[in-house]
Amino acid sequence: MTDAVAQRTIDPIALRRAFGTFVTGVTVITTRDCDGNPRGMTANSFTSVSLDPPLLLVCVGKSASSFRAFNETQSFAVNFLHEAQADVASVFASKVASKFQSVNHDRAHTGAPVLTDSLTWFDCTVHNRVEAGDHIILIGQVQAFGTSPSAPLGFCRGRYASVKDPLPAGWLASQDMIIGYLVEAGNRVLLRADGKGGFVLPTARRRKADSKLVLDGGEALSLIPETTFVYSVFDIADSDPGYLIYRAELSHASAEAALPNGHAFFPVDALPYERIATSELRAMLRRYARERQDKRFGIYMDSGDGGRVAMIDGQSNSWTQAESE
Ligand SMILES: Cc1cc2nc3c(=O)[nH]c(=O)nc-3n(C[C@H](O)[C@H](O)[C@H](O)COP(=O)(O)O)c2cc1C
Repeated sequence: MTDAVAQRTIDPIALRRAFGTFVTGVTVITTRDCDGNPRGMTANSFTSVSLDPPLLLVCVGKSASSFRAFNETQSFAVNFLHEAQADVASVFASKVASKFQSVNHDRAHTGAPVLTDSLTWFDCTVHNRVEAGDHIILIGQVQAFGTSPSAPLGFCRGRYASVKDPLPAGWLASQDMIIGYLVEAGNRVLLRADGKGGFVLPTARRRKADSKLVLDGGEALSLIPETTFVYSVFDIADSDPGYLIYRAELSHASAEAALPNGHAFFPVDALPYERIATSELRAMLRRYARERQDKRFGIYMDSGDGGRVAMIDGQSNSWTQAESE
């Protein structure tokens, strides 16, 4: 039988220990103070609340030095940590002033700092604040979010813990494909720094050819819809969800505007192939640079015999035009 504790004799230390037997993940909640400085703390009081509207909550202690920032802000982010981030949890559970020097962060939608490396992130506007003893319950409405297949960092009885077999078999295959964009503007191709010294293609959630492309990270680019087409479909590893790559051209206005954080243009004839992380992406960019010279592109799909390319002759036509022919 477990020990029963009568209400009147609640010992806060024993209560904290009892609460601590509940297994949770670990998050870093972040916001900006009134001067725009990033503020954050480790928190495991996260709970998902509602899908419609999309709501979540965290509890913020009134004695935290970042309490005022969370109590006054109109937006905040919740970053779930992955299993290799116990050190990040320790830094953000401390009082050091330079917490954000140990992590990369970016703006997604609201401007709250979103950790570039995390298991999952949610960028929220404040839906409500509820007084609750020595904490406030901060309820957020999710405006943007992203997730990854990494294993979560767990927490129980005051210790960080790994979660065994966090991904059910077949999980990756059942997730959406990774949508990459090979974006060209005036003989240059747009690449995104991968944070490890290399480059990858910009990625986006939407797989629809549209004039507005919202990149992962929330920044929007404006494309010329008539010149966007599927360019390549492939897997890099057997277990990945597959890559769907579109070729697109930036609108003139977007090509002149400031680039999203971490993105850079490279001349098509001087792409940094040695810094492209995977051979599949390297091969695709080489093919693109080659095909571009003749303005005759192929659509690649990987297959058992090493992959196939179907050449497109001439320009892409609109569906109505193709139907009436
Ligand atoms: C695993 C873990 C979970 C925590 N969860 C919370 C929480 O949900 N809410 C909270 O206010 N503090 C929580 N804390 C404590 C804060 O991280 C800690 O008080 C931190 O120093 C606050 O930072 P600040 O004083 O710079 O704002 C947690 C600490 C750890 C290690």
